[in-house]
Amino acid sequence: MCGIVGYIGDKEVLPILIDGLKRLEYRGYDSAGVAILGEDLKVVKTQGRIKALEERLKDEDLKGNLGVGHTRWATHGAPNNVNAHPHYSESKNIVVVHNGIIENYLELKKMLVKEGHDFRSETDTEVIAYLIEEFYEGDLLEAVKKAYEMLEGSYAIAVMSKDQKDCFVVVRKDSPLIVGLGKGENFIASDIPAILTYTREIIILENGDIVKITKDDVSVWDANGNSVKRPVQQVQWNVEDAKKGGFKHFMLKEIFDEPTVIKEAMRGRIKNGSFEIPELEQISVDYLKNIRQIFFVACGTAYHAGVVGKYLAEKYLKLPVQVEVASEFRYRDPMIDGRTLLFVISQSGETTDTLAALRLGKKKGAKTIGIVNVVGSSVAREVDNVVYVHAGPEIAVASTKAYVAQVEVVALVLLYFAKKLGLLSVENEKALVSEFFALPEKAQAILDRSNEIAEFASTTKTIEETFYIGRNLDYALSLEGALKLKEISYVHAEGYPAGELKHGPLALVTPQSLIIAIDTYAPLRKKTLSNIKEVKARQGRVLAIATKGYSEIEEVADKTFYVPQTIDDLSPVISVIPLQLIAYYIAESRGLDIDKPRNLAKSVTVE
Ligand code: AGP
Repeated sequence: MCGIVGYIGDKEVLPILIDGLKRLEYRGYDSAGVAILGEDLKVVKTQGRIKALEERLKDEDLKGNLGVGHTRWATHGAPNNVNAHPHYSESKNIVVVHNGIIENYLELKKMLVKEGHDFRSETDTEVIAYLIEEFYEGDLLEAVKKAYEMLEGSYAIAVMSKDQKDCFVVVRKDSPLIVGLGKGENFIASDIPAILTYTREIIILENGDIVKITKDDVSVWDANGNSVKRPVQQVQWNVEDAKKGGFKHFMLKEIFDEPTVIKEAMRGRIKNGSFEIPELEQISVDYLKNIRQIFFVACGTAYHAGVVGKYLAEKYLKLPVQVEVASEFRYRDPMIDGRTLLFVISQSGETTDTLAALRLGKKKGAKTIGIVNVVGSSVAREVDNVVYVHAGPEIAVASTKAYVAQVEVVALVLLYFAKKLGLLSVENEKALVSEFFALPEKAQAILDRSNEIAEFASTTKTIEETFYIGRNLDYALSLEGALKLKEISYVHAEGYPAGELKHGPLALVTPQSLIIAIDTYAPLRKKTLSNIKEVKARQGRVLAIATKGYSEIEEVADKTFYVPQTIDDLSPVISVIPLQLIAYYIAESRGLDIDKPRNLAKSVTVE
């Protein structure tokens, strides 16, 4: 999630841009830059922090009243000075800053290269600048409108032209963008905090809006090219609240980001109704046929995504699969060779144990695939192939949206391999593809009922012992649900195979116990229901997470929270959401520091 800020008015623009970018730093970024239109159209940008950008600016004398700034969260192209934004067009007469993913940038880039254009960076954003220049004949707005017709994907962009000193043009498609209104000046930002010190009057742009902004006017055209008036809203938040989008904690904001994250994680990976992973297309069918075993290796939440991967890989690839905690794996002597496919899952891409496990696997000859969130991170650089999950910066220590994206991308990769190997029937692929596209809405349907979870959580103040139980994929979910509760509410919780309770843990169940029974995996739902009955017989309290329509569970559980029907194998992508919410609301009811839980770090770069 990149940060964008822009200004046009009578003030010197540079201080406003730097101030705005600093207010967006909390979102996480790997490089920063500004473009200012004064005597000339000048870009100054650098990898690293805004401090580094300020150092670079000391050698420049950038004066002007129109400009844009950008903090980059890399999606395409490693973090470096060349890939940082803003990006020039080929003539350097146009600059663009961008937040989002252009799905068809490679096709457009090939087309422009064929027409003789030379690119400087590896980014999708630069293609936008070159494309706008292709259409530019002196009217920036018209050129942007024409380029808009050819761009596929999610993007918020701001565009400036050297020839037009009185305006800039912005577009909002999926990625957020707002206009801030001033007197004789106007602002743009990807997020309210960037401009809150200058104005509280904002226009929240809608999908498809193309906007020409001068210092005295904001003209909006909708996706159909009609001139429209968008409502002006007053921002009531203070800066701190604004950073969390009005949510009390980053963790809750990131949970509520999940419908968008689910969309972004699959973007460009389902084409013409079929699974396609461009980052893996050079892995041949022969290579895949030669694979004799699969390993997933990771830590914490990422490990739990690997447990989901194990069940899916066995089912769809018909191979032996092991899922390993990296800190154990790295000190064993695992039986790995050149016919092993090793998936390494990591949000940060910097976890020491995971990196060590990756290096061990490579040393033993395994082919490695990284499922990573942070672009250009160590894991991303050291694996043979990396598939980014595009979850955007995850600020809360407790991982939520990254887990959802990891599970989704693992499923997409495994289904893509199964298709390549002829192990996925056309009708099965069709059903799965259609269900992927339905997931964001189903996730939103769960979030729309979050108050039910909050109400239940308010009744759990005396809970001392919690078990999360489930079978098959529901067991994988139980592990993640338990970790979430442990790490932010400090209540002891265990994820356990539902069938195993009677082999010991049932002795712990008392009326003070809370059992969260995840019963969404249809083939085993009756078995799990009997385990719930075992718990009830010992007076344990049961919150059941079940699929809509499975009403008999209501007669047994104390509270049932229904998740929408989906294909069993994709259920973890959305069924984890109530588990994240229960952990959040229990912790919130205890007034804990949810975003920064005691003793924990966001990225564990020590052993
Ligand atoms: C997740 O909520 C935890 N913060 C932690 O378990 C985390 O998943 C683990 O440290 C792995 O981090 P990584 O995904 O960045 O490698």
